[in-house]
Amino acid sequence: PEAITVQELANRMAEKGADLVKALFNLGMMVTVNQTIDQDTAELLVEEFGHNIQRVSESDVDIDNTVDVDPAETLKPRPPVVTIMGHVDHGKTSLLDALRGTDVTRGEAGGITQHIGAYQVKTKAGDMITFLDTPGHEAFTEMRARGANVTDIVILVVAADDGLMPQTIEAINHTKAAGVPMIVAINKIDKDEANPKKIRERLLEHEIVVEEMSGDVMDVEVSAKKKIGLDKLIDAINLQAELLELKANPDRDAEATVIEAQLDKGKGPLATVLVTRGTLKRGDVFVVGTESGRVRAMHDDKGRQVKEAGPSTPVEVLGLGGVPRAGDLMNVVENEQRAREVATYRTEKANEKRTAMPVSNFENMFSALK
Ligand code: GTP
Ligand code: MG
Repeated sequence: PEAITVQELANRMAEKGADLVKALFNLGMMVTVNQTIDQDTAELLVEEFGHNIQRVSESDVDIDNTVDVDPAETLKPRPPVVTIMGHVDHGKTSLLDALRGTDVTRGEAGGITQHIGAYQVKTKAGDMITFLDTPGHEAFTEMRARGANVTDIVILVVAADDGLMPQTIEAINHTKAAGVPMIVAINKIDKDEANPKKIRERLLEHEIVVEEMSGDVMDVEVSAKKKIGLDKLIDAINLQAELLELKANPDRDAEATVIEAQLDKGKGPLATVLVTRGTLKRGDVFVVGTESGRVRAMHDDKGRQVKEAGPSTPVEVLGLGGVPRAGDLMNVVENEQRAREVATYRTEKANEKRTAMPVSNFENMFSALK
């Protein structure tokens, strides 16, 4: 079904109907518990409540600590984290390949991205940019939402020969919900059928006014295939990043977010994490979600061993006690005892939540809605 009543959604989320009505009101919608809302709105709500859950686990680590803010004088510039989003086949991975000088697209099963890829690119000027690739396939809503949440800037890729499609619009909504600035990359302009003007006009319907139409959202015409407009896109990213004045304290215990995780037959549990502040070092003891561990080895996006990883760097970490979930927070702690304490605390919290919640996770809940 396309629509669901607020009460029904509340039941599935194990939340109070009134709380959902309140959240909807805050989103500018006046509805009662018995009224139906569309799927986009329902999705927004789930995210809204999902965020809260994540924030709870964030504070869990501070069970006996004070609020943990880095003083201004410890902050140093860090690379922007840029997430590439858009409809399936609009050329997200190809664009990233073109920027990196690689060919990931060819190695993908059926040419479909199935996970979030995390990469770093050094620009000609020597600046680093961290890129996250997301799948455009409709089944990966949760991943795009996740991508939008760890990102500083979203690049919305729209194929000039295809126009605004469902996952384009969904990506626009995720970006807006995350409050992240957007750059529009109008791709495939090498094609005869390309009509960039039409795309700019259609974007207006979603309140995105690009610079070409005298708005303030940067737009760049590109061709991943013919390598057109790539420098302009990098310039746009750097410009946007400058405006954001992105900074983090590199000289503290690391905090990171899990981008993806899996169990490798030979290496055990593996997680790709994005360091958000501090520097993650080999030998560090950590908690990640409800698991604890010690960094046994780290690899960068090119598979090379690294000893440490600073803010905005994606790294693959070995040495986890179990497989965490994407979106989980990783915190370096002083010793193993502390790691176990925090992990146990989080496990208890998670168990409480699980008994209160009839569905195992939001992703399942959504496939159940469709
Ligand atoms: P998903 O990960 O499945 O969502 O797709 P994607 O957005 O990553 O698209 P991908 O990069 O896999 O490209 C899809 C198809 O479009 C491939 O066949 C590419 O060769 C083609 N393509 C990508 N960019 C361009 C371009 O600039 N021009 C032309 N003509 N084709 C392109
Ligand atoms: Mg792809």
